[in-house]
Amino acid sequence: MSHLFDVYPLYDIEPVKAQGSYLWDRNGTKYLDLYGGHAVISVGHCHPYYVEMLTRQLNAISFYSNSVKISLQEELAEKLGVLSGYPDYKLFLCNSGAEANENALKLASFHNGRTKVISFTKSFHGRTAGSVAATDNPSIVAPVNYNKHVTFLPFNDIKAADNGITDEVCAVIVEGIQGVGGINVCSDEFLRTLRRKCDETGAILILDSVQCGYGRTGKFFSNQFSGIEPDIISMAKGMGNGFPIGGILISPKFKASYGLLGTTFGGNHLACAAGVAVLDIMKDENLIENAAEIGNYLFEGIKDIGGYKELRGRGLMIGIEYEFPVKDLRNKMLFEHKIFTGVAGAHTIRLLPSLALGKEEADIFLETLRKEVTVTNI
Ligand SMILES: Cc1ncc(COP(=O)(O)O)c(C=O)c1O
Repeated sequence: MSHLFDVYPLYDIEPVKAQGSYLWDRNGTKYLDLYGGHAVISVGHCHPYYVEMLTRQLNAISFYSNSVKISLQEELAEKLGVLSGYPDYKLFLCNSGAEANENALKLASFHNGRTKVISFTKSFHGRTAGSVAATDNPSIVAPVNYNKHVTFLPFNDIKAADNGITDEVCAVIVEGIQGVGGINVCSDEFLRTLRRKCDETGAILILDSVQCGYGRTGKFFSNQFSGIEPDIISMAKGMGNGFPIGGILISPKFKASYGLLGTTFGGNHLACAAGVAVLDIMKDENLIENAAEIGNYLFEGIKDIGGYKELRGRGLMIGIEYEFPVKDLRNKMLFEHKIFTGVAGAHTIRLLPSLALGKEEADIFLETLRKEVTVTNI
């Protein structure tokens, strides 16, 4: 009998082995992974270089506190700055996406002394106090977390942003592409409006890149399509390829002081070894370019199959919305065809595979989708 606090609806499958874009369960059944454990597996399961880096680190030193020099943190910050195109931003390390957003909101409020936060409809920013208060889902906001600081404006509504971002606003927090909300892409004009309004009012622009960042869209951060630069960028999921690590990239306008932010586990040796390994692999194997290329290939293939209401996303962050509820389609994909996919809401299939996904794997998915969508539409 399980003694776990029962908060997750589970599939009766237990992966016990993984490699690249594949998983194996206890019976040896092989599954294609187009979900990457919810956008976490960035460079592929059990990549040999990643395993070697972590093993070597585990044998050397796995943890000491942030009271001593940990040069792996500096290596990670430098490599991240170069690969992401933000070499002059500073890095603060933590352990998860919610924590990254929590620190981003704190830093914004420390900076301008204000309290009002603008978030958007269908947003998801995590489950800790500040992050969940800025999340547009009342069912996961506990009374203790509910605060009157957050106003939700309609997503991608330029006029509402123009009117709603005033000089009382501390921070504007937005996902470059909403993940949980259904793969909704910020228009370039919307992001430019947010940047302009934050500049005019002194509000801090936070780009939550926890799900859409780290190369997933074919650029390092999805806001780079619009040409705007956020004040703070939050990251997590793909950053450690499964090892818990999160962080914020902080523009040079912020001044650091001792004790302003802090954490016990953030930036530990193992997390940094994982983070450095991920960046090395992304660079050496051109995984950002691969995400763009295979993403385009999937988009074209899905368009050719048709039968959907709307196709959204960029690179390897793809939402396919159908008129019909997708629960059966997802179950068939998993149990009959042995393909892991995700969903967003009742009608959208969500794909978040490893950035190393190959054409061969994309073809397996497309062939299966063609078969199933044709059957469903008959
Ligand atoms: C956009 C976004 N922000 C924040 C989070 C929270 O991240 P974590 O679960 O690591 O706290 C998530 C998780 O799904 C997310 O998708």
